[in-house]
Amino acid sequence: MHVLHVVGARPNFMKAAPVLRALRGVAAKQTLVHTGQHYDHNMSDVFFSQLEIPAPDVNLEVGSGSHARQTADIMTRFEPVVLERQPDVVLVYGDVNSTVAAALVCAKLGIRTVHVEAGLRSFDWTMPEEINRVVTDRLAEMLFTPSEDADLNLKREGVPEDKIHRVGNVMIDSLVRLLPAAEGMPKNGFPDRYALVTLHRPSNVDDNESLGSILESLQEVSRELKVVFPVHPRTRQRIGEFGYSAETLHFLDPLPYVEFLALENRAAVVITDSGGIQEETTYLGVPCLTLRSNTERPITVEMGTNVIVGQDREKLRAELRKIVEGKAKTGAIPPLWDGRTGERIARVLQSLY
Ligand code: UD1
Repeated sequence: MHVLHVVGARPNFMKAAPVLRALRGVAAKQTLVHTGQHYDHNMSDVFFSQLEIPAPDVNLEVGSGSHARQTADIMTRFEPVVLERQPDVVLVYGDVNSTVAAALVCAKLGIRTVHVEAGLRSFDWTMPEEINRVVTDRLAEMLFTPSEDADLNLKREGVPEDKIHRVGNVMIDSLVRLLPAAEGMPKNGFPDRYALVTLHRPSNVDDNESLGSILESLQEVSRELKVVFPVHPRTRQRIGEFGYSAETLHFLDPLPYVEFLALENRAAVVITDSGGIQEETTYLGVPCLTLRSNTERPITVEMGTNVIVGQDREKLRAELRKIVEGKAKTGAIPPLWDGRTGERIARVLQSLY
């Protein structure tokens, strides 16, 4: 079995690493294609080294652009690679533009496509990732899901049951593997209690008013807790364009995986609009306040430590108060979020192809 993996953006790397590892010795051949959607050293290369991902066999170097342009560039550059390499199966991960672009190319060429992290739905069609999820799931021949809600979403959409394999959360495999390294990281002068913030959703950062309101809220938070904020390049650009100054916030560059995990694990609270971080905090038992009005990962709310706050500043204040007073929401780790998802994926692939 020749397996070709496609990755492109930061969250893909944490998901592909465990599968690449588990397929070593199982697949006759593995090929890794990086689309180049993310290209800065600290958005890409540093994850390859910390997660011990082999260097990509091919880098399509598409870079940034509008959705149409980026998706089209990936498709045009990926097609000849697939035709030349002739894989038996192509694995795509998550919900970024690289995921849907690669799935579309493979579907048109009649090449088996497998979607890892299938079935998640926010039911919010204004999110680019929701479009990517729905289209990729429709195109893929095999769907690996992280939780029961994902299975139910797919069944509701008419996906035959034999295409769905609930294997658990593959990103948690990377977390489990590198948590000891994160626990061993020095504290680097950070206080014992702080709020860790990440922000990059277009709906939060591309709109002047939303971004301004969030930054004001964070300044309020900083009266209770130090705010540590590794800034995504997209957010950095917007903050620069809009000319905000927020002196009480401690801005950092995007962090490598282990350094970020160390900060996350020790945080009093994480305030975020990321999907993956809602899951990581649930695993770590760290309170998470999500600055979105919905989530495609409802299990983090039902079972985990996640609370959906949206843009409701009053709710953010109230939830933060609970956390500061030691009354934070507690949670449990969902089934199959155990660090062995990559192995389960490898077993299913081995039995079928
Ligand atoms: C993408 C994903 C999003 C994911 C996020 C994680 C899509 C539609 N979105 O969003 O789901 O949560 O990655 O980070 O695929 N930039 C750099 N350096 C880089 C990469 C990007 O400076 O290495 C800047 C560019 O100005 C670019 C902007 O960030 O225009 C946005 O990058 P892009 O990949 O288009 O989307 P993200 O916001 O990163």
